[in-house]
Amino acid sequence: MAKQRASDSSITDGLLAKEVPGSYGIPFISAIRDRLGFYYDGQDKFFQSRVDQHNSTVVRLNAPPGPFMASNPRVIALLDAKSFPVLFDVDKVAKRDLFTGTYMPSTALTGGFRVCAYLDPSEPKHAQIKQLLLTLLAARKDAVLPAFRSQFGALFDSMEAELNSGAGKSSDFNKLNDGTAFEFLGEAFFGVRPSATTLGSTGPSRSTRWLFLQLCPLMTLGLPKILEELLLHTFPLPPLIARWDYKALYKYISEAAASSGVLDTANKLGISRDEACHNLLFATVFNSYGGMKVLLPGIMGCLAKAGEGLHKRLTKEIRGEVAAAGGKVTVATVERMELTRSVVYEALRLDPPVKYQYGHAKRDLVVESHDGAYKVRSGEMLFGYQPFATRDPKVFDQADQFVPDRFVGEEGKKLLKYVVWSNGPETESPTVADKQCPGKDLVVLVGRLLVVDFFLRYDSFTAEVGTQLLGAQVNITSLAKASTSDAS
Ligand code: HEM
Repeated sequence: MAKQRASDSSITDGLLAKEVPGSYGIPFISAIRDRLGFYYDGQDKFFQSRVDQHNSTVVRLNAPPGPFMASNPRVIALLDAKSFPVLFDVDKVAKRDLFTGTYMPSTALTGGFRVCAYLDPSEPKHAQIKQLLLTLLAARKDAVLPAFRSQFGALFDSMEAELNSGAGKSSDFNKLNDGTAFEFLGEAFFGVRPSATTLGSTGPSRSTRWLFLQLCPLMTLGLPKILEELLLHTFPLPPLIARWDYKALYKYISEAAASSGVLDTANKLGISRDEACHNLLFATVFNSYGGMKVLLPGIMGCLAKAGEGLHKRLTKEIRGEVAAAGGKVTVATVERMELTRSVVYEALRLDPPVKYQYGHAKRDLVVESHDGAYKVRSGEMLFGYQPFATRDPKVFDQADQFVPDRFVGEEGKKLLKYVVWSNGPETESPTVADKQCPGKDLVVLVGRLLVVDFFLRYDSFTAEVGTQLLGAQVNITSLAKASTSDAS
């Protein structure tokens, strides 16, 4: 109590630090109740009800999945743009073993290694492996655009063929994107198309099974609740289920990495071949492929809902810039497309592909929201629900709406620091000393290339947009092909 009274008088920016409101309730029972609320009432509703109940955007609650998957579900939830960034400050929070949250999948799924995403920057291995990834991405930067254009050009061909194959047909963008994104990443990172190896076309389905074992505690499949609770949310599924899938993926990555020279870089950095390959597999399949599975349908979903007016403006910008560049699509040409860039940031703001971020307080802290300052004790788990930070109405007008021009112009640029999908502000770059996503620039480029190549080829389109597992499900229902092609 003495400690509590002493910090009662802690004052930050004139605000008296208070206890975080909310309670964890009855052990076990309340954790189960909170997890059912999270999964089945809808996540936004679940978090908003806590904000309303306690009149605070910093609240205590039990995070999913809870018992028995996680030994301790108790967290302090950060539900606004002001408190959330404490999670980026690695002097204040430890990020060891909490990439997926309050539970950690077995290292049997990653060759026995704790891969980069689970390492805290205070662990020397973190800087070594992150450097390897940053070096790989820098070395392959010129391969991204041609690999994207050839792979997604083929996706558009398939989409058209599906739509033309009969009346009333639609084309499942997610399904096509799964195969295409996997192929694109293999070619972009290692210069080796997975389908040209013994992996054949099995990469996406093998990856999805392996990803599912790690992410199912955070998913609902629409099965009867009792089944989902028992099968997905209570005990980890045995890693053995994905053993053969992982082996096949590992074979592809280790051979492709060896031929691309990245293993020599690993060697120079003091990382063993085996540890490098497991990390490259995780970065390619979990971080990159898992991210693209959510991001690209998310962008298409936003474009579909925005409708023809926006499509017209995008085609004008994109075709105008490409024509001005002599018909060439280059990274520099794409950089000049302000509306296209804004649209991609807005999609990442409205629906960040990775919604949850975690960190253990390294010491006693005071965390500020817009309305108050709150005491956090050393060791407590902070949990940011990112959509509430990036849809904070105190920062963004029409915060729940897709506003395509939001980031255009000087005023728009000022808002970029609140776009934090990469586990850091969009205005900053990842380093080996932090936990910001090393794929940040690549991801934004890929998002823009999708918009550019799509509107070089089509004037407009319609789609049915729903939800699935961790993101949007987009079924393309019609495509209006470009009347004139200004693209090369
Ligand atoms: C970390 C998102 C693509 C590699 C992260 C984090 C987020 C994120 C939110 C921080 C997680 C945390 O610590 O709480 C995304 C999204 C992507 C994407 C949404 C795509 C749409 C990529 C790509 C790579 C990559 C292309 C390729 C190398 C990593 C790695 C980490 C990471 C290695 C751990 C960083 C560290 O330990 O310092 N990513 N990412 N990600 N991401 Fe990405």
